[in-house]
Amino acid sequence: MSYDLLKGKRGIIFGALDENSIAWKTAERVHSEGGTFVLTNAPVAMRMGQIKTLAEQTGSEVIPADATNQEDLENLVSRSVEILGGKLDFVLHSIGMSINVRKGRHYTDEKYDFTAKGWDISALSFHRVMQTLYKADAMNEWGSIVALTYMAAQRTFPDYNDMADNKAYLESVARSFGYFFGKEKKVRVNTISQSPTATTAGSGVKGFDGFISYAEKMSPLGNASAQDCADFTVSLFSDLTRKVTMQNLFHDGGFSNTGVSQEVIEKFE
Ligand SMILES: NC(=O)c1ccc[n+]([C@@H]2O[C@H](COP(=O)([O-])OP(=O)(O)OC[C@H]3O[C@@H](n4cnc5c(N)ncnc54)[C@H](O)[C@@H]3O)[C@@H](O)[C@H]2O)c1
Repeated sequence: MSYDLLKGKRGIIFGALDENSIAWKTAERVHSEGGTFVLTNAPVAMRMGQIKTLAEQTGSEVIPADATNQEDLENLVSRSVEILGGKLDFVLHSIGMSINVRKGRHYTDEKYDFTAKGWDISALSFHRVMQTLYKADAMNEWGSIVALTYMAAQRTFPDYNDMADNKAYLESVARSFGYFFGKEKKVRVNTISQSPTATTAGSGVKGFDGFISYAEKMSPLGNASAQDCADFTVSLFSDLTRKVTMQNLFHDGGFSNTGVSQEVIEKFE
C-alpha cells in the first residue's frame, strides 16, 4: 500500500546492514512512499552487509560514513544534497553498538575504553549527525529527524548493559537539539522507542530470545516488528506530524504501560 506520503522528499538513511535491519525496512517503505535518499553505513559494515542490493532495489546511492568521524559526516551531508538535488527533508539515525555487550563484559565490570567507544557510536553520533546537518544548513523547513532507542533508558533491563545509558543520552540529545533545530530551522527531532526486534544488534543482547517472547506476551498488541517501525517512521517523516517534536515515542504494542498481562500471570499460577 502506498499513499505517496513522501513524494518529493529527500533524505539520508543510516544503519541498513541486512534485510532484518530496521533501517532496511524503513528504506523500502520510504521508497514505496515516493521518497528519495542516500544510504549510508560504516565502511566496515559495507563489506559485510548487503547494502548494495538495497541500493539497487530503491535506486539509491551509497556513501560510506563512520558516524563517529566528522569528515565522513561532512562529506556525506554535502554529497547527499548534491546527489539528491536539494536540501533534505528526513534523516534516520538507526545506529547502535556496545563493545561491552559484544565482548560479554558485565555491567558491573565495564571496560571503560569499550564504554567510551560504544557511547561515541550509539549516542554522541546522533549529536554529531545533527550538528553537521545544522551547520551545513542542510535541512529544509518542516524536515524531520528520527533516531531509534529502547525503553531500557527509563527502566532497568539487566542484560541491556551500557546500551541503557547510551539510549538515555541519545533521548536527551533529541530533546536538547530538538529545541534549537525547532527554533532556528523548523525541523523536528524525535526518538522511537521500539519493541525488541530480531536484528543483528538486537539478537546480540544476552537472553534476547526469552526476552522477545516475554515482551510479546506483555504487549496487548504484540511486539512491534521492524516493518511496523518502518510504517511509523514514514508517518514521522510525512507532513502529517509537523508539530510532533522533542518526544520519545513508544512503539511497542503497549508494553511500556502494561504492569502485567494475563498470560504472564498464568505462568506463575
Ligand atoms: N533490535 C532491537 O531489539 C532494537 C530495539 C530498540 C531499538 N533498537 C535500535 O535500532 C537501531 C537499529 O538497530 P537494528 O536493530 O536495526 O540492528 P542492525 O544491527 O541491523 O543495525 C545497527 C546498525 O548500526 C551500524 N553501525 C555500527 N557502528 C557504526 C558506525 N560507527 N557508524 C555508522 N553506523 C554504524 C551497523 O553497521 C548497523 O547497520 C539501533 O539504534 C538499535 O539500538 C533496536
